[in-house]
Amino acid sequence: MSKKKLRSQDWYGRTGKDGIIYRSWMKNQGFPHHLFEGDKPVIGICNTWSELTPCNAHFRDLAEALKRGIWEAGGFPLEFPVMSLGECSVKPTAMLFRNLASMDVEESIRANPMDGVVLMCGCDKTTPSLVMGAASVDIPSIVLSGGPMLVGRYKGKKIGTSDIWRFAEEFKLGKMTQDDMIEAEASMSRSVGHCAPMGTASTMAAMVESLGLSLPDNATIPAADSRRKVLAHMTGMRIVEMVNEDLKMSKILTRKAFENSIMVNAALGGSTNFILHLTAIAKRIGVDVDLTDFDKFSSMIPLIANVQPSGEHWVEDLFYAGGLPAVMKEIEKHLHLGEITANGKSIGENFSKAQCYDRNLIGTFENPIKPDSGIAVLKGNLCPNGAVIKPSAATPSLLTHTGRAVVFNDIDDYKARIDTPELDIDENCIMVMKNVGPKGYPGMPEVGNMGLPQKLLAKGVKDMVRISDGRMSGTGYGTVVLHVSPESAIGGPLALVQTGDMIELNVPARTLNLMISDEEFAKRKAEFKPLNLPYERGYVNLFLDKVNQAHEGVDFDFLQGSSGSEVKRDSH
Ligand code: FES
Repeated sequence: MSKKKLRSQDWYGRTGKDGIIYRSWMKNQGFPHHLFEGDKPVIGICNTWSELTPCNAHFRDLAEALKRGIWEAGGFPLEFPVMSLGECSVKPTAMLFRNLASMDVEESIRANPMDGVVLMCGCDKTTPSLVMGAASVDIPSIVLSGGPMLVGRYKGKKIGTSDIWRFAEEFKLGKMTQDDMIEAEASMSRSVGHCAPMGTASTMAAMVESLGLSLPDNATIPAADSRRKVLAHMTGMRIVEMVNEDLKMSKILTRKAFENSIMVNAALGGSTNFILHLTAIAKRIGVDVDLTDFDKFSSMIPLIANVQPSGEHWVEDLFYAGGLPAVMKEIEKHLHLGEITANGKSIGENFSKAQCYDRNLIGTFENPIKPDSGIAVLKGNLCPNGAVIKPSAATPSLLTHTGRAVVFNDIDDYKARIDTPELDIDENCIMVMKNVGPKGYPGMPEVGNMGLPQKLLAKGVKDMVRISDGRMSGTGYGTVVLHVSPESAIGGPLALVQTGDMIELNVPARTLNLMISDEEFAKRKAEFKPLNLPYERGYVNLFLDKVNQAHEGVDFDFLQGSSGSEVKRDSH
């Protein structure tokens, strides 16, 4: 392998005053001089460890295993922190800060002397923010995910994050007490790692594996399994080789790799958040992916993995059954097999020897877990730029449904009225929530799977059609139309819906329409007043000014594309 001058030598390879400045302070950590002489690639370990991001709280341990691998392969590891977003803690919603975190990652990588980088990702937004930031720099990069939690156990039953929605309904109905809830929450999160179902975190881990940005099995090895540390060690070894091979992200993230990832996500019944994040990553690396691709490449793929929320089991079980390689093998006739991955092999080579050990967990292409999967993209006068629904998590009979709209102006209006006796609603109605889009909330919170009214839950109603410009947790389920674009706060047609209007949802035909006359539509549009957004300073003001819509990935317009790894000015 021809060795070209390492990027880090632009810092550490200097003589005179510059050399002292770049090296001397580093030596206060006890590093000997030979580490700076240009033989050892400097590998940044981009760590999202934080006690406020509990899904990533084991990352210090994992980083030590990474470092062992990096040293063994002849690299020089240097760990650095970046903004870490804990999904369950950050208010008003972690999505508001995904782009901010990605800017932190991008600038931290570019500004520092590193030749390659390991991205330590776990909780939902910590994956896209790191991948987006690294894509805009484009040095050799590999992802190490933290792995899923062990499945929770509560009163003899397996539980995970998807059960929160069920517990919430039982609590509303008085079937669970607050003491039960406290016991359940401790029983659910009983090990290190991120959420146990195929929620957004595991969807993101599967996304990076199917894109080729990680080693095989990154998506499913449980966080508490010692093989996760083995994977970290091997990831550390591999990034050093990637630097020597100059295997940059842009060589891995091809258009075909994105198509593969969309198909794999369909086979897994992955989160709808996948759409926003994959779109944003593609736009950073300069690959053209739009909303129609998600429908087109999902529609031929059935549900292969029997994992919650689309199925019954857990990501931990999926690992024991053969993991993501075994799922990919089932859809191999549709995948582009020749795409290069982080280990230097093609994606097809990576799963060629995969085996399924449990057909309860991994169906076959001919005999899948469910025939419908993936993402359906809807168009119509209610969503001219698109809306999405996850058919595998919906009630089949509701996928074609016309109902009377019951409109909530925002999340606060919903909370105030949903359980009031006077709310005029039945199970055939369609619940509509406005002003929870990228700008409207702001940050596009995961509130789209609105809980059903208590009086209907008490009648035994399990699902209703719900429509919003917000998002849904990857662990959520139901007949939930999300990401309506353009959003209501900027005058999208969702803003014009009034309680009592009829709405027609037809998922097989991929349509979503408000059944009012053109004249009435035009009249309401003329009367529309944009939402008064009350933020005047700081990051949120930047967000409101620069964020694009759901169908474009909710990224900032000025962050699309790449600035490369070159630092144009040199202050010393
Ligand atoms: Fe972190 Fe679910 S809250 S992955």
